[in-house]
Amino acid sequence: MGKEISQAVIRRMPRYYRYLGELLDEGVERISSNELSARMNVTASQIRQDLNNFGGFGQQGYGYNVKYLYEEIGKIMGLNEQHNIIVIGAGNLGQALANYMKFEKLGFVIVGIFDINPALKGKVVRGNQITMLDELDDFVANHKVDIAALTMPKENAADVANRLVQLGIKAIWNFAHVDLELLDQDVVVENVHLSDSLMQLSYNIVKSR
Ligand code: NAI
Repeated sequence: MGKEISQAVIRRMPRYYRYLGELLDEGVERISSNELSARMNVTASQIRQDLNNFGGFGQQGYGYNVKYLYEEIGKIMGLNEQHNIIVIGAGNLGQALANYMKFEKLGFVIVGIFDINPALKGKVVRGNQITMLDELDDFVANHKVDIAALTMPKENAADVANRLVQLGIKAIWNFAHVDLELLDQDVVVENVHLSDSLMQLSYNIVKSR
């Protein structure tokens, strides 16, 4: 294992990755930390510090090789591998995630979508048929599943999460409004609460008055 990198740095990496991807699309081959700083509205010293965590990648007087840096950050973030996702809860949010194509470009492929509502059974969302939750065990036994997205109400989220862990799923992308206490230390959870972001926005609206 490499040296431990702080979560704060890791949280900034997707933004670097996004900007570098745009630069690549524009045909930019190299960029200095100052130019990147101007684009990203982050100080050049922050950029140098962040990227030094990964052994640099920059060269004095040359700047950063955009493609190399993009690929290295991709590797660090595990984006050079495919991650298969199942979605649990095929309502508004679950179907919206399943319909969003750009996750695939990053290697996140939705391979299954589950619900308990029989009215949804068999409905196809971007090539995936909605399957009933009682078929989950069979499905996981027969497919490689890396991540489960929980887009179901919070009431049963903990039970479903524990069942997923027992089935060997190691990563949960949790949208249900509950803090999951999982049985297994090896399981990683990423909680996504859009309302947190909205509340922050609201704070900034109020503050700027
Ligand atoms: P929705 O009501 O449209 O969909 C929920 C779906 O989950 C329904 O199809 C329902 O049949 C299914 N479901 C219920 N119990 C289930 C179970 N035990 N196993 C599998 N499926 C089950 O709701 P919507 O708008 O899609 O939201 C889903 C959840 O995500 C809600 O809990 C909501 O609070 C949360 N949410 C979270 C957001 C976030 O930023 N974290 C943003 C929007 C919604």
